[in-house]
Amino acid sequence: MAPPVRPRLGSRGRGPSEAELVIAGRAWVQGKLQPVEVGVDGEGRICAVGRSLTGARRHEVGDKVLLPAATDVHVHLREPGPPDSGETIVSGTIGAALGGVGLVGEMPNTQPPTNSAERLDEKEALVRGRAAVDVLLYASPDGPDSVRRLARHAGGFKIFLSPTTGIDRPPTGPELAAVLVGLAEVDLPVTVHAEEPTRFRPRATPSDPAMWDAARPVEAEEAAVARLLEAPASLRLHFAHLTTTAVARAVRTRHLCFEATAHHLLLSTSSGGDARWKVNPPLRPEAERAALWQEYRNGLVPVLASDHAPHEIERKRLPFELAPSGVPGVESTVPLMLAKVARGELALPVLLQTACDRPARLFGQPVGRLSVGHRANLLVVDFRRRTRLRGERLRSPCGWTPFEDAEVVFPVEHWRDGERIVEEGEYVGRPGGRVVRPEFAPGAVRPATGPA
Ligand code: NCD
Ligand code: ZN
Repeated sequence: MAPPVRPRLGSRGRGPSEAELVIAGRAWVQGKLQPVEVGVDGEGRICAVGRSLTGARRHEVGDKVLLPAATDVHVHLREPGPPDSGETIVSGTIGAALGGVGLVGEMPNTQPPTNSAERLDEKEALVRGRAAVDVLLYASPDGPDSVRRLARHAGGFKIFLSPTTGIDRPPTGPELAAVLVGLAEVDLPVTVHAEEPTRFRPRATPSDPAMWDAARPVEAEEAAVARLLEAPASLRLHFAHLTTTAVARAVRTRHLCFEATAHHLLLSTSSGGDARWKVNPPLRPEAERAALWQEYRNGLVPVLASDHAPHEIERKRLPFELAPSGVPGVESTVPLMLAKVARGELALPVLLQTACDRPARLFGQPVGRLSVGHRANLLVVDFRRRTRLRGERLRSPCGWTPFEDAEVVFPVEHWRDGERIVEEGEYVGRPGGRVVRPEFAPGAVRPATGPA
């Protein structure tokens, strides 16, 4: 079981006197918020966590709360293409920075898809010198032969079982089985979009989210998950965007990792009637959503992700059946959940585990905790600053959100490697985000059994 996020007071690396910078505020330590100082060394790593540190510079945030920056394992930044609402790696990662996300997992269903070493290199070149936060690049194998070559360059793999934006014919049948055997020999996370297309029910033309739910029913997810659970045990499987407690339970009993998105946790088929609420897998009925949220609150969902898919609002206004699927979210996911914490509807440790610690370990990155040796990727949060989400104010050029008007708490500051990139809620950074690959195997990333 994943240990809880528990920085210890007084733990120190090479000694507090070496801190270049001390950030003093409050943090969640030993079961409560209490005064904490974080020492940062010249390389942007946390070198001490204590009550009273000395360093060359001090930054006091009073009773505001220091949190590790989050990791969002599921975003679509639309570069090199398809052109979609003007989103780029630049705008998407600035949105991430503003929304408290210091590392994103960029999906491979771009145009062209990220399915060769050359295309990974090209995408890496698009990230370097342009990204505001760190990026892990997923690759999408188009057959068993490409797996080994891709594994030398990629940060992880993404498998689609059904056609999606940018990927018309994902491997199926024996070819998919061979891909999975190849992936089982590779020590990288393998994320699956688990919807089995043979279980889709394209009977009537869908015209609202409830019909979309009926057309791509829960059984399609259940069948896909059941099939994947037969895959070789050494596969480092991570299930993207599970939508029901039943599928979540099936994955949990096998001690595998999965994510739930903010939209499946907070929105249902009753939230809105047009294609802004069209997404794959679909939003589910309210009772199902409420049950998933309850499990999330209880610490039974390992990872929170956005599945940020910033479709142009003009295309979302097309007739429902023609409009693209997907909702933006990299900038709003953590602020929505911070507001839940502020309202006492979500325990802070659950958010820290699902948004910071576990996704970072899935990606094998020394981030996600206020711990010595971790990179100093931190947020400063003032839980009193509750505001309302406005699509037009988001950094993402798509300019809309399915959570319009929802309560949010945006981080006041965001620090990347000990350098401030967000100040007073404004992006002030330089594009120093890196391309990262797993630095260590996380072991099984498992959900907790109950509230932390
Ligand atoms: C995603 C997109 O638009 O890239 N859409 C979605 O509905 N989730 C693709 C995907 O993740 O299937
Ligand atoms: Zn996605």
